Amino acid sequence: MTDQVDEIKSKVDIVEVASSYFPLKKSGRNFAALCPFHGEKTPSFMISPERQVFKCFGCGEGGDVFTFLEKVEGWDFRETLEELAKRAGVKLTSFAPSGASKLKEKLIAVNKLSSKFYSHLLSNHPLGGKARDYLLMRGIKKSTWEQFSLGYAPAGWENILTFLNKRGFSLADMATAGLIIARDVAKISAQQGYYDRFRNRIIFPLKDARGQILGFSARTIVDVKEEPKYINSPETPVFTKGAILFGLDIARESIKKKNEAILVEGEFDVLSAHQLGVTNIVASKGTALTERQVVILSRLCTNVSLCFDRDIAGDFASHRGIELLDLAGVNVKVVELGKYKDPDEFVRAQPSEFKKTLDEASDIYDYLIESAVRRNDPKTPQGKKKIGQETIGTIAKISDDLVRAHYIDKLAKLLDLEVSLVAAAVEKNKSSGNKAGDLTEELASVESIASSSKLEEYFLALFLHQEEVLAKIVARVNPSDFENDDASRFWKWLRDIIRSSKTKNIKKLLIKLPKNLDKFVDNLYLVNISPVFFEKEFWAEEITKTANRLKQFALRQQIMAISAELKLVQKKKDNQKIGNLTKKFDEVSKLLKETAT
Ligand code: GTP
Ligand code: MN
Repeated sequence: MTDQVDEIKSKVDIVEVASSYFPLKKSGRNFAALCPFHGEKTPSFMISPERQVFKCFGCGEGGDVFTFLEKVEGWDFRETLEELAKRAGVKLTSFAPSGASKLKEKLIAVNKLSSKFYSHLLSNHPLGGKARDYLLMRGIKKSTWEQFSLGYAPAGWENILTFLNKRGFSLADMATAGLIIARDVAKISAQQGYYDRFRNRIIFPLKDARGQILGFSARTIVDVKEEPKYINSPETPVFTKGAILFGLDIARESIKKKNEAILVEGEFDVLSAHQLGVTNIVASKGTALTERQVVILSRLCTNVSLCFDRDIAGDFASHRGIELLDLAGVNVKVVELGKYKDPDEFVRAQPSEFKKTLDEASDIYDYLIESAVRRNDPKTPQGKKKIGQETIGTIAKISDDLVRAHYIDKLAKLLDLEVSLVAAAVEKNKSSGNKAGDLTEELASVESIASSSKLEEYFLALFLHQEEVLAKIVARVNPSDFENDDASRFWKWLRDIIRSSKTKNIKKLLIKLPKNLDKFVDNLYLVNISPVFFEKEFWAEEITKTANRLKQFALRQQIMAISAELKLVQKKKDNQKIGNLTKKFDEVSKLLKETAT
C-alpha cells in the first residue's frame, strides 16, 4: 500500500491538482494563492513544486497532495487515494473501490440516462410539442438544442421515476442524484414515496469539460409567478454549485482557439449567441463568478469578456471574480449591452450590432472607474469619497505594477486630485487588507527576521536555493550555531553527507535525507526566497551575510549564557571558575567583533 501511495505521489503534481481548484501565481520557485482554508485578501498559501507540499503562512494548514484533497474536498484518505490513483493511471491492488466512488459513477450514469430520456421527449415525442414550440418561439433551432443536448421533462409527477425504475435504478439513487424528491409524508399522508423534481420544464444538462453530466438546470415553459423560472439540481456528490459553466463542453475548443471566452449569465444567452456564430461563450448561470469557474476559464484562455445583464460596477461579488481573474493572469473586459436586457435580447434584435459590440469591449478597470464617475459627482467631496470607495480596493489588487500605476493616474485625473494622493490611498488599501500576506513578505526579507528560528530557517532555505554547495559556508557554520534542534540536526546531517559524498549537488544529496527530517525540509522549501537570488552572485552574497548573522546570533547567545554563569560563580567567589569564564567571555567577544566586520 505505501508503495502505491508513493507511486501515486510521484505521478501527480500538487501544483496541477491545486490549480484545478483556484488560480496559482508563480512566486519565485514556488506558487502562491489565496488560501482556500481561511479568508484572506493577499496570497499567503504557498506550494513548493520541488517538495510537492503546501503550506499556508496565514492559517498554518499544510501537507502533501493527499492532505490537500482531503481538506479541500472533504474526502477521507480512501476516497482521495482512489481519485488520485485514477488521475495517475495507477491500478490499486488489493483495493475494492469505495462506496463513495461507486456512488459517483452511478450518479453520472443515472444523469446520462435521464438526459437521454429528456432529449428523446424534446426532439421526437408528442409530449414534447409544447417545449419544441417554446424553443422555436425563442428562436432556438433544433440543431442548436440538439448540440447542447437540451431535453424536456414532461408534466406529471412520476415520469422520470417510472422510467429509471424500469431501468433498474433504486429510489435512493434517483433521490441522491436530485432527480426525485421525497414527499413530505406529514403533509400528504395519503400519498407516500417520491415525485419528479423537474416537471414541465426545458432541461439543460450541466456538464464538466469532459462532457460528463453532473446535474441539470430546468426552465419552466409556462411563466407563472408561483413557480421559479429556473430550478437546478441540488448539491449532490457530483454536483457542486459554482463549479460548472453552462456550455463549456461545446465552447471549449473555440475558447482555446480564440484565446478568449465570453461569459454571460443565462442559458438562452449562450444558445442565441452560439447560433450567431459566437461559439466561445459560456454561462455562469446568474451567479457571481466563483473560484472554480475562474480556474476553468484561466486554463483555457487569457482573455475573458464579461457580458452580464447586471451592472457589475457596484456589485461586490463581481469585483471578487474580477480580482480572481486578474490574479490568474487573465485580461478582463466588459461588454456593455446598452438598452438591451441581456445578450439574448440584443442578439435577437440586432445580431450584427451585437457582434460589433463584442469587439468593442472595454477594459474592466476603465469600465469600473468610468461607471463610478458616471453615477457619482466627482466634483464634490462626497462624490469623490464614493468613487474612491468603489474603485480603490479593486485598483489596489491589480497585480501588475504598471497597469496599476496607469489606473491610479486615470482616477486622479478624473477626480482632479494629485496622483500621489490617490497612490497613497491605494497603498493604504493594499496594506490594510494584507495581514497574512505581510507574513510571507516578512519571510522573504532578511531585515525583518527577528527570531533566531526564522533566521535559521531562512539561512537553510537559502542554502538549498541553489543546487551547488558553497564550501566556505559549510566550513563556517556549525551545528551548534543553531538553536532549533531540527535545524541543528539537519545541518549536521547535511554537513556530514557533503563531506563524505563525491557529488556536490544539493538535490542528489537530499535523496538520502532521513525520513524524520522530511517535514522540516518541506518547510524550508516553502520559505519564500526572493527571485533576485536565482542570480548566483547575489545569492552567494546573501547567504554569506546570513551566515554571519547566524554566527553573531549564536555568539550573542553564548555571551549571554556566560555572563549569567559568571554572575553565579561571582556570588560563590569561585576564583578559578571566574577566571575560566572571563577568559571564555573574552574569546567569544573577540569572535563576535570579528564577525561584525
Ligand atoms: P430567460 O427567459 O430564460 O432568458 O431568462 P432571463 O433572461 O430572464 O434570465 P435572468 O436574467 O432572469 O436569469 C439569468 C440566469 O439566471 C438564468 O439563465 C438562470 O441560469 C439563472 N436564473 C434565473 N432565474 C432563476 C431562478 O429562479 N432560480 C435559479 N436557481 N436560477 C435562476
Ligand atoms: Mn434572457
